[in-house]
Amino acid sequence: MERIGVLTSGGDAPGMNAAIRAVVRTCVYYDITPYGIYQGYEGLIQNDIKKMDAGSVKHIIHQGGTILKSARSLDFKTEKGMKKAWDNIQKHRLDGLVVIGGDGTFTGAMEFGEKFGLPIVGIPGTIDNDIYGTDFTVGFDTAVNTVVEAVDKIRDTATSHNRLFFIEVMGRDAGFIAVYSGIAAGSEEVLIPEEDRGIEKLFESLARTSKRNKTSRLVIVAEGDNNGSVYDLEDKVKEEFGDRYETKVTILGHVQRGGRPSCADRVLASRLGVIAVEALKEGKKDIMVGIRNRDIHYTDFEKATKQNPKMDKELLRIADIISI
Ligand code: F6P
Repeated sequence: MERIGVLTSGGDAPGMNAAIRAVVRTCVYYDITPYGIYQGYEGLIQNDIKKMDAGSVKHIIHQGGTILKSARSLDFKTEKGMKKAWDNIQKHRLDGLVVIGGDGTFTGAMEFGEKFGLPIVGIPGTIDNDIYGTDFTVGFDTAVNTVVEAVDKIRDTATSHNRLFFIEVMGRDAGFIAVYSGIAAGSEEVLIPEEDRGIEKLFESLARTSKRNKTSRLVIVAEGDNNGSVYDLEDKVKEEFGDRYETKVTILGHVQRGGRPSCADRVLASRLGVIAVEALKEGKKDIMVGIRNRDIHYTDFEKATKQNPKMDKELLRIADIISI
């Protein structure tokens, strides 16, 4: 390995910069020349590739977003796009790639690696935490903390007005952000796609809050939940309870993707960045690096993209108990 390229792809996540920094610095440490590829796979196609050094990544460990920019490239899914990307890789004589992103990123890496024989290693970077093969993805911890901070604020106003809030959080088809923030912010109910317990369960929880004279009611809804949108839920509750509750809806949206990465995300990203380069050096390819039970874990792209991480039922049980 003499030259390694690094890119970020898909939705940005806090901590991606810390991962880029770790990849670049590890390359320099091992006398490998790092190359930054801008705009994800689109940059490979457009030849937006620049040589980096240890100084190129100074003062970025604390910054959200990604200095390399990100994109969801449609061209990279085509034969022509992949061929152009390969030509540029050869032009820069890159011996391997580190790709930071989610399952779309790894699917692209898998196809590209298989087609041209280029060694590629992935780092899981997404706020959704929806990648098999790692306990946590880079960005999840920061996003959850952002949600908790926001919900704490919503609680202040909800309590002041005795209101019921439906708060939609991100996560695509996964409910990890919802479950973690629901527990940490003390919501009355959490609705997630992995475990549809039916609208009746929500009605029961709300009825219980009335008996206990609760002054605020917070319901956290994962965007992928199957009971409809937060607005549908609001309508259903109105149908069931009439005007018993004054309801409000908040969709947190992209605020969840930004901000300074938490300490946990910086450490995770730094660790995975080092391991990714070392994996390439050791001849590994077509794998994602992750941390499971504190240990380094390698997962084939095939498995990382096809399997979903299991929702921890124990967390749901805890959420139920403590929201009584
Ligand atoms: O995968 C990260 C994520 O923020 C999801 O939670 C969300 O569904 C999606 O990306 C939003 O994508 P975009 O930024 O392209 O609207």
